[in-house]
Amino acid sequence: MKKIFAAVSVMAALFTSCSVKVKANVEVEKSKEVEETYSIDTTLSSVIALPKVDTTGSMTLMEALKNRKTGRAYTGAALSDRQISELLWAAGGVNREDGRLTSPTARNVQQIDIYVYTKRGVFLYKPVGHQLELVKEGNFIAKAGKQPFYEKAAVALTFVANYDKMEALNFDEKAMEFYGATDTGFASQNVYLYCAQENLGTVVCGMIDRDTIKEVISLKNGYPVLSQAIGVQE
Ligand SMILES: Cc1cc2nc3c(=O)[nH]c(=O)nc-3n(C[C@H](O)[C@H](O)[C@H](O)COP(=O)(O)O)c2cc1C
Repeated sequence: MKKIFAAVSVMAALFTSCSVKVKANVEVEKSKEVEETYSIDTTLSSVIALPKVDTTGSMTLMEALKNRKTGRAYTGAALSDRQISELLWAAGGVNREDGRLTSPTARNVQQIDIYVYTKRGVFLYKPVGHQLELVKEGNFIAKAGKQPFYEKAAVALTFVANYDKMEALNFDEKAMEFYGATDTGFASQNVYLYCAQENLGTVVCGMIDRDTIKEVISLKNGYPVLSQAIGVQE
């Protein structure tokens, strides 16, 4: 009986140490080791729950605005789980009980889908639940943009105007294009401000290969508006 109990305990401990990386926002006290392994970056899972967001921040809005800038030189180092989680929340996370987001969208259509490229896969950010859903396995960071600095970015994002969501609210073609572009701008600027607070480098890019991106994310009815590279600054 004692042996069975010991075996079950070992299995439970192993399970906990494996799953803590994926279910990071479950109330688990993460060990220092886990904190420093940049687990989102190396995790491949159909769903990755993102760590809780610290909304107190470490900089005032005015300081972040003062520091906001484009940066294209990255060391290749990874972002922490906290940074990945918070930059996505800044871009388009839920910030109110009624489900509205950190970025405004026309008629609250919430049509800007944020695709996240890590070293392990491409994921779709789901604001409800604050989690990532796997879209494709593999490192496609360099495909998010056309310029060489994507090679050393820690993660990249593509903001996609979701036409299904806009058609459902009877937006016409012109409105879908216009609001897809304007609403992406708000999300991108939020990422810029978060990067200013964290002293991370970022650049938003219109020079992207939209056909390649559509293929990578298997996009059926939408438009990849802009990509954004994020990395630890050189
Ligand atoms: C809509 C948009 C598209 C951009 N596209 C690119 C791009 O494809 N490649 C790039 O290196 N920078 C791109 N940029 C970054 C601009 O070059 C940069 O914002 C500009 O030089 C001003 O610098 P700052 O952001 O530091 O103020 C883009 C910026 C915006 C707003």
